[in-house]
Amino acid sequence: MGFKINEKVTWVGKIDWELRKFHGDEYSTHRGSSYNSYLVKDKKIALIDTVWQPFSKEFVANLKKEVNLKDIDYIIANHGEIDHSGGLPELMKEIPNTPIYCTKNAVKSLKGQYHQDWNFVEVKTGDTLDLGENKLVFIEAKMLHWPDSMFTYMTGENILFSNDAFGQHYASELMYNDKVDNSELMQEAIKYYGNILTPFSPLVVKKIEEILSFNLPVDMICPSHGIIWREKPLQIVNKYMEWGKNYKENQITIIYDSMWNNTRRMAESIAEGIKEADKDVTIKIFNSAKADKNDILGEVFKSKAILVGSSTINKGVLFSTAGLLEMIKGLEFKEKKAVAFGSYGWSGESIKFITKELNSAGLEVINDGIKVLWSPDDTEIERCKEYGKKLVELILVELI
Ligand code: FEO
Repeated sequence: MGFKINEKVTWVGKIDWELRKFHGDEYSTHRGSSYNSYLVKDKKIALIDTVWQPFSKEFVANLKKEVNLKDIDYIIANHGEIDHSGGLPELMKEIPNTPIYCTKNAVKSLKGQYHQDWNFVEVKTGDTLDLGENKLVFIEAKMLHWPDSMFTYMTGENILFSNDAFGQHYASELMYNDKVDNSELMQEAIKYYGNILTPFSPLVVKKIEEILSFNLPVDMICPSHGIIWREKPLQIVNKYMEWGKNYKENQITIIYDSMWNNTRRMAESIAEGIKEADKDVTIKIFNSAKADKNDILGEVFKSKAILVGSSTINKGVLFSTAGLLEMIKGLEFKEKKAVAFGSYGWSGESIKFITKELNSAGLEVINDGIKVLWSPDDTEIERCKEYGKKLVELILVELI
């Protein structure tokens, strides 16, 4: 059912409490998500975005309770991805001639996905749509995170409909940032940024600077996933500025996979050495075959350095290590130190493989890594600890 945001704007989206995987299996959504669609009733009526396709019938049925569909004058598609455009085919069956305002790239993506020649109206940054008392102003947001993405700003009510930007995969009927558990909210917001927006960070910073230069008053930011930023809405914009500038905390993350616990023991011994040398640094340790990959990537995003370890198998690395390295490469993290480690029985190629991948991911590899033959004995455990201690110095030196 709809949720009234103010006299003119009603949320008509769908909270997806069940969702645990998004983008196929690429993104974990431990707290579900929502697909936020907004109905704006002024002298003219506009609908901003829809919902994911499986909920399209439910969406249209609920929308009919809020408005006579024939009275909708304009549809705004801020982004063509199916989690926001998936309701269009069902809706357009009922109102086939209603104009769809979107970017030129969105016309391509919507046509490419739905193969329909709907009544598209291409818009660019600065174009406006007069609703009577209020106007909608369009702002292209290319690669935030698709080429077709845009924001829509509503004058008078001072609402920025930002689509995926500033969103979170976070299901809550409380709707607003001042009502939900803030630590949960920020955890989901940073995970979302780290896992989805990191490669586009330079564009994020540029886009925010551009929007701030317009000096538009912003009373609310309504993203297309998760809760609405109502209390100090610019706090999330400021966070994006911080996250977009090669973000790191005083954290070192150790990620490993291990066949017979030897690489795990290396990980823990290196961590001990790091802790001895620096009592303040946060150390997080994950087995990449057992922990959630997106939670790990969220921690990588927060780290100043990462260590990646794997046993050697078939002259390479374990499955989870290879997968995670591929994801790290895709996210194009900047200004992060990295090293490899791992145990082996006879050939020991894993650290070479990992080092090569870390280098090609653009991470700053500090040294050749550390490997241990067979199971580490006391001497080797000590060597791992010393390696950890030395690493703290190297990271510090590198940062000076
Ligand atoms: Fe939430 Fe890019 O779709």
